[in-house]
Amino acid sequence: MIWLPHMKATPVALAVLGSGRGSNFQALAEAIDAGKLDARIVCVIANVADAFILERARRLNIPAEYIDPAPYKTKLSGAAEQQVIDRLRHYGAELIALAGFMLIIKRRLLAAFAGRVVNIHPSLLPAFPGLEAWKQALEHGAKVTGCTVHYVDEGMDTGPIILQREVPVMTEDTPESLHARIQEQEYLAYPAALQQVIAKIRAESRG
Ligand code: GRF
Repeated sequence: MIWLPHMKATPVALAVLGSGRGSNFQALAEAIDAGKLDARIVCVIANVADAFILERARRLNIPAEYIDPAPYKTKLSGAAEQQVIDRLRHYGAELIALAGFMLIIKRRLLAAFAGRVVNIHPSLLPAFPGLEAWKQALEHGAKVTGCTVHYVDEGMDTGPIILQREVPVMTEDTPESLHARIQEQEYLAYPAALQQVIAKIRAESRG
């Protein structure tokens, strides 16, 4: 079909992978409802059986699936990774958003969804990759930190940056207060960054 400027594009099929609370997933769902993100969430997948992100998805009638990463704790086994790919394909996912997904994504999944896997990280990358980035920022005496949305590659928090938002560090900050302030910015950054990615996908598909 030829695309004409007056035609409304179909919302992009977005899958969300998480391991925990799912507040970023919630922010994405709300951004969709508010018309700020032209996507529909087709499934949520978690590697933790009782992760609250699964409960949040069920409350919104979004398919929510647990995939056992066994026998590893920090990455998916080959079988589990294939299972994730199969489920993402089953739901027709076109774009994958990692939202607090605490496992390293490997080559097979990245190849299956090349250029379509995006992550949010609670620091201004390349500063403070890895775990508890807000604590790292405090320990280093950083005056400014923030959050980064980036494409995922095989490194840890290393892929090309899409969008960042800054957060000042206050002298009275605790790890909790700083993380909470960073998260407020994440809820704005993630939908905006994904909307940029969607615009790019559409521009590419129009040739
Ligand atoms: C966020 O701070 C995100 O940057 C990091 O993990 C946290 C997930 O929080 N990758 P939530 O599960 O979205 O509430």
